[in-house]
Amino acid sequence: MLTGERSQDRPLEELWLDGATPSDGDRAAARSLAARMGEFEGLRPFPAVVQELVQYIGRPDFRVEKVRQMIEADPALAARIMRVANSVAFRAYEACTSVSNAIVRIGATNLAHLSMAMAAMTFFKDLDGVGMKVRDHSAGTAALARELAFRMGRSVVSSKVLLAGLLHDIGKLLMIQTGDRDYAVLLSRDHSPNTAHKREMQRLGFDHAMLGGHILARWNLPEPLPQIVACHHQPQSTQGKAGVVPMAIATLRLADTIDWLLAQPQDPDPIVLKNIALSPDGVYAGLGQDTLIDLWEDLRTARAEARSLFR
Ligand SMILES: [Fe+2]
Ligand SMILES: [Fe+2]
Repeated sequence: MLTGERSQDRPLEELWLDGATPSDGDRAAARSLAARMGEFEGLRPFPAVVQELVQYIGRPDFRVEKVRQMIEADPALAARIMRVANSVAFRAYEACTSVSNAIVRIGATNLAHLSMAMAAMTFFKDLDGVGMKVRDHSAGTAALARELAFRMGRSVVSSKVLLAGLLHDIGKLLMIQTGDRDYAVLLSRDHSPNTAHKREMQRLGFDHAMLGGHILARWNLPEPLPQIVACHHQPQSTQGKAGVVPMAIATLRLADTIDWLLAQPQDPDPIVLKNIALSPDGVYAGLGQDTLIDLWEDLRTARAEARSLFR
């Protein structure tokens, strides 16, 4: 369950450093981001029905019947939830035919957070060009991360990485929405997963991961989601620690890379997939050397379905 401390109350730099001593660069990044946060926060309000749902499910005495009523009061949200409940990501032997059924299958808390992610994704429905690519990449990464965690028997991680995957690059979408043409050019140059954030740091003083983490915290999405998003390009800030957060970050980073590989016109050489298993994220996540080769077609299917679900 994504509950716990509200990250919006923590100083900006702590969110992604998680208690580690910040370097001068980290402090400068925090100052630069803090100076511009208002600009990004003002971009979009969050839908009231989803906010109410998340708040209601945060209560210890919430009732599933009331959750059903809240979801059904928004037919567009109910329809999207049914599509997700019947997707590969929540596969089951029988079709899911009602919202009550979907609540049982997905779990009330996951469903509220998923509603939040779906609402966030609809903010970006009108995107074209590079924005559309980021949105599709987010949906693909989410499905891949969930599929990987699920196949590796990590159910707690799998329930977190779907949402983290959907929202991990939301900072990029927000920056695109400010209408900054130079930023769109910066992104369109290269989509490989580990380059844009370095150029953002040079140009803006902070990166999309930090921005995304802080915006999610301001939208009251509970920990550890903002931290996972904030750290997805700084795995060193949590590596070496045990727990769900470092594992979720490693899984998300693997999915980020796999989504990029699946977007290429040709399938990767098997040696590339073996090398991913030998990378720090692959080793940390315990990915076997042949796991990706064995799962490749299933990963491709899960990715394709998620991309169509969130369009
Ligand atoms: Fe990213
Ligand atoms: Fe990404």
